Amino acid sequence: MSNTVVVTSGKGGVGKTTVTASMGFALAARGVNTLLIDGDVGLNNLDVALGMENRAAYDMADVMTGKCRVAQAILQVPGYPLYIMPSAHAVYSEQIKAGDFRALIARLGGSFDYILIDCPAGIEGGFHRAVSASEYAIVVTTPHVSAVRDADKVITLLSGYELRGISLIVNRVRGDLLARGETLEPKEISRLLRYPLLGVIPEDDEITVCSQLGRIGMAESSSRAAFEMAVGNMLTGEGRIYDPTAKYRGIIGALRSHFRRRA
Ligand SMILES: Nc1ncnc2c1ncn2[C@@H]1O[C@H](COP(=O)(O)OP(=O)(O)O)[C@@H](O)[C@H]1O
Ligand SMILES: [Mg+2]
Repeated sequence: MSNTVVVTSGKGGVGKTTVTASMGFALAARGVNTLLIDGDVGLNNLDVALGMENRAAYDMADVMTGKCRVAQAILQVPGYPLYIMPSAHAVYSEQIKAGDFRALIARLGGSFDYILIDCPAGIEGGFHRAVSASEYAIVVTTPHVSAVRDADKVITLLSGYELRGISLIVNRVRGDLLARGETLEPKEISRLLRYPLLGVIPEDDEITVCSQLGRIGMAESSSRAAFEMAVGNMLTGEGRIYDPTAKYRGIIGALRSHFRRRA
């Protein structure tokens, strides 16, 4: 039986699709058989993020309506045990019932170690369907006060479901601001929201998920390392959290010594 994890947030644009795709890559890089389901119906952005949009002949609605077999609506990311099921188009998505979606996930459960569902924000349709089919939830937020406030609201919604665990990913953390105390501390966010941190992901220009395709295991980007730690926490509970300030402490240290020398 696989672990089903819904990736959600209080507001859109905080990085759910990025987190889903990157966690998927990091899991697959460890040899974990992973299926990503685009539950963010209507936008199709998971397959676009993965550069796979032109390969999809069928989607979730086709499976639901019996137009194709489940296996025909699942695409493999070449070279990795990573699979994706594209979302249904908006017109059909409304018709997909939570019970049918749950049954589909249960059916797929035997074939994958992990199923990650990229879910719309709590306020949008499709949230209920995705959450009610999941055992665990990851709430993605940024360190901005408004995002944290909305994360709190979605956590309230999640508490109405029988989940086995909720954890947080704080995304787009700027190490320079954090080092200067100018942004909310991820640990403080976890304390405010009363759920544990699964990971801290730095602001990273390299993040366009598409560009990560085929680059697994190659040049280290800071977000790659951060996602690997988050996946380690998910698999083994090892509790390693990326420190976005480390780099900046180094630079600040170097600048300090530079000015000291000149004084
Ligand atoms: N850690 C990050 N560093 C830099 N850009 C990021 C990061 N996470 C997400 N982004 C960018 O933010 C935008 C929104 O991310 P996305 O994953 O699509 O959010 P959502 O799915 O929650 O709407 C995208 O352009 C994405 O590339
Ligand atoms: Mg998205």
